[in-house]
This record gives sequence, C-alpha cells and structure tokens, in this order.
Amino acid sequence: MADTQRSWEKRLSSKPDELTVDYVESLSYDKRLYKYDIMGSIAHAAMLAAQGFITQAEFAAIEKGLLGIRDDIEAGRFEFDKAAEDIHMAVEGALIKRIGEPGEKLHTARSRNDQVATDIRLWMRDQIAALQTAIVRVQKALVSLAARHVDDLMPAYTHMQRAQPIVIGAYLLSFVQQLERDVVRLGNCRDLLNVSPLGGGAIAGSTLPIDRAATASALGFTDIVYNSIDAVSDRDFCAEFIFDCALIAAHLSRLAEDWILFSSSEFSFIRIDDAFCTSSSMMPQKRNPDVLELMRGKTGTIYGALMAMLTILKAQPSGYNRDLQEDKIHVFSAADCIGKSLEIAAAVVSHTAFRTKDIAAGLDAGFLDATALAEYLVRKGVPFRKAHGVVGSLVAKCEKEGRSLSQLSLAQFQERSPAIGQDVYEYLGAGNVVKRYVSAGAAGPEQVRRHLAFWEGHLAGNEPQRR
Ligand code: ARG
Repeated sequence: MADTQRSWEKRLSSKPDELTVDYVESLSYDKRLYKYDIMGSIAHAAMLAAQGFITQAEFAAIEKGLLGIRDDIEAGRFEFDKAAEDIHMAVEGALIKRIGEPGEKLHTARSRNDQVATDIRLWMRDQIAALQTAIVRVQKALVSLAARHVDDLMPAYTHMQRAQPIVIGAYLLSFVQQLERDVVRLGNCRDLLNVSPLGGGAIAGSTLPIDRAATASALGFTDIVYNSIDAVSDRDFCAEFIFDCALIAAHLSRLAEDWILFSSSEFSFIRIDDAFCTSSSMMPQKRNPDVLELMRGKTGTIYGALMAMLTILKAQPSGYNRDLQEDKIHVFSAADCIGKSLEIAAAVVSHTAFRTKDIAAGLDAGFLDATALAEYLVRKGVPFRKAHGVVGSLVAKCEKEGRSLSQLSLAQFQERSPAIGQDVYEYLGAGNVVKRYVSAGAAGPEQVRRHLAFWEGHLAGNEPQRR
C-alpha cells in the first residue's frame, strides 16, 4: 500500500494494526459504488476547474484517469486492497498513482463524508428505477394471468373461512394494486433523497468558494442539501428505502403464503410449474413450493435490515460518525434480496395455472351466497339486521341437513321469511352472486374487465421512473 493511499497516516505515529485494517474497511462491500464514486469525482473536478482551483488540463487528466480506473474495474483488472479502507480512497489512491499531482488536487474542499453520502444517493436513484421496473414486471405477469380468469370463480376468504364468491381476476388484481403503491412509494423516496450533499465537506462546508449548485446539477440532483451538517449525517433516506423494500417483501410474502396453501392437495387451486418447484430427498412424490417459501422467508432478512438501519441511526451524535459506514451493508442486503424476490415472483406468476374446474366443483361448500341472500331480502324491503338473522338461521338449518341454500324449497324459505319469492333462486349460487356485484371496485367480472383495461394501459411502456 503506497503512502499516498492513506494520507491521514502522517498524523498517526504507527501504522494501523492488522485488526484495525480489517475492522474498519468497507471496501469489500462498498466497491460496488465505484461507478457513482467516479461520477461524483468527475463532477467535483469539473467544478474545481470552473472555479479556478485546477486548470482545464488538470481536469482533463483527472477525468481521463478516473475513466481509466472505471474501465479497469469493469474489466476486472483493478486490484482492490482493503488497506485503502473504502472505495473512495481506493479510487483516489489509484488516480494519484496514475496521474500524479493533478490527482492530489481532487479532494480539494471535499471529505469522504460528503462523498459517501453522494455516492449512496446516486446508487439508490438507479436502484429505485431498477426495482420499479422489476415491480412492473410482476404486475404485468399478474395482469396477464388475471386476463385469463375474468369469469372464473373462486371463494374469497376472511379469517381463512369461506366468505363470498369472487372472480379469480379480482383476486390477482388486488396484488397489482398493492404493488402499485410500492412503485409510488419508491418514487416518493427518490424525490426526497435526490438532493446533493456534495460540498458539505467533513461537516462545516469549506472556506474555498466551491459551487455546490454546479455539482448538484451535473449529477442530476434537483437541489443541494442546504445544511452541511445534515448533508453529511442524514441517512433517513436509507431507512426509508429499506422500509419500502420491506413493504414490497410483505406484499410478496402474502402472495407466497396464499399460493403455498393454494398449491396444497387440500386446496388444489393452482399448479405451479415444475421449473419453480423442488422435490424431497426422501419422499419421492413431493412437489414442494420452496421458491414461494423462500420468498416468504426472505421477508425476515429485509425486516432485519430495516431494524438494523434504524438502530444505527438511533442516538448518533450530530455530524458524521463511522457508525454510518454500516448503512451500506443493510441497504445493499435489502435491495439485493427484494430484487431477487421480485425477479422470481414474476417468473412464478407467469408459470402458474389456476385449476378452475377443481375450484368450481367446490364452490357449493361454505355458503358463499349467504350475504347475497341477505341483500336479496333488503331488496324486498327487509331491514338488513333482520335479513342477516333470517339467513343465519337458514344457514344453520342447511348445515345440519348437509345441503346448500339453493337446495332449500320455496316453502322452507318462506317459513323463515314471507318476503322470499320464487326469484330467490336467481340470486343463489356463486355464479349468480358474482354476476350481480355492482358496487365500484367489487370482485365481479364487470369490474375486473374495466380494471384490466386500466392496468394494461397504465403498465404499458414500463418507464422506470413512473410515479
Ligand atoms: N467508508 C466510509 C463510510 O462508508 C466513508 C466515510 C469515512 N469518513 C471518515 N471520516 N472516516 O461511511
């Protein structure tokens, strides 16, 4: 390790202990920020040239050197030495080695504190765009599956008990809507983080007349972070980003949980393609939904990252503290984890078939039409609370006798309520109920047809930074 790579060593009387080198390094994981670090340095150098701190020739040498380093990293030719501590010193050290004195001017009016805050924000902006695209892929897969099941029925559950009949498309679109909020949430997170901390320096800014607005606009930030102390210490956006990942994970875990149950012999609602199942080392008959179980399980990893990030922030003294270096571990972990889950979620959804015949064959169980029967009575002028009681007693009777509501005779209906007429049979049975859903957003075929048209239009184009 050349001296130039750790300029602060001149201050200390001995070289750092090997344990210290290992303990303080972040290069092993922050090297993935290299592109953003170099981008930030080029913008900073251009500003230094414009302000007259370096010459145009020096700027050109710095830019060329940095781009060369970027090429070397991308080609796998760059040697990462943990003694450099982090990506910022690794790149700066390599630049000085390459171009000499102009490289030594790069860090003018800059600290690693504002540098790292800049790098993470630049990285996160791209990451958010990538995650939004990945979410849209899952949404599209759900929409195309929903389009195949606009008229096919399934039971909806509350408390895991059969509740009311719905069309399968409505069930699937409920996830599209949840995921849409995740896209918007990530967009909000991006808007809030997209301001430049660069020029905040170590904590107090600089006595040199740097132009922060220039670097901010060169890097595509909408503004600068106005307070230099906040600029170097704020990691709110990291907690918020992980929270957004955590909610995506929560949504995927709910889908996973449903589908694990739905793929069981007990439900037999869906068949997940073999390519997305695993088997057992002992039981030869098994087709296990391990992919979905991991999707559910990885939610724990992301929640853990959120708790870690929040804990790192708690009660930190003002300004930059090295504690903040740990932010990247959790931000990267959450981003990687949710990225992979979204990718496989899109694939699983595209390779899953609903067993519509099996589902339809079981729709008579569970009195799915009971609520619709109560609403039928409301149409006949019976107050809802009374209607609820009448239907409750009819259900109890049917349950005892082992039949469905539609198997009762008109006389049996009228014994409980004279308001019931021959037309009641047109209101019973899951198929009749679903066709009668008229309220906005209800889970019937008419609403689903309209919503599908909306989603197909909305998701078309797939622009990454869609709000
Ligand atoms: N590797 C550090 C981090 O990730 C960079 C900033 C270090 N600053 C310092 N004053 N030691 O936070």
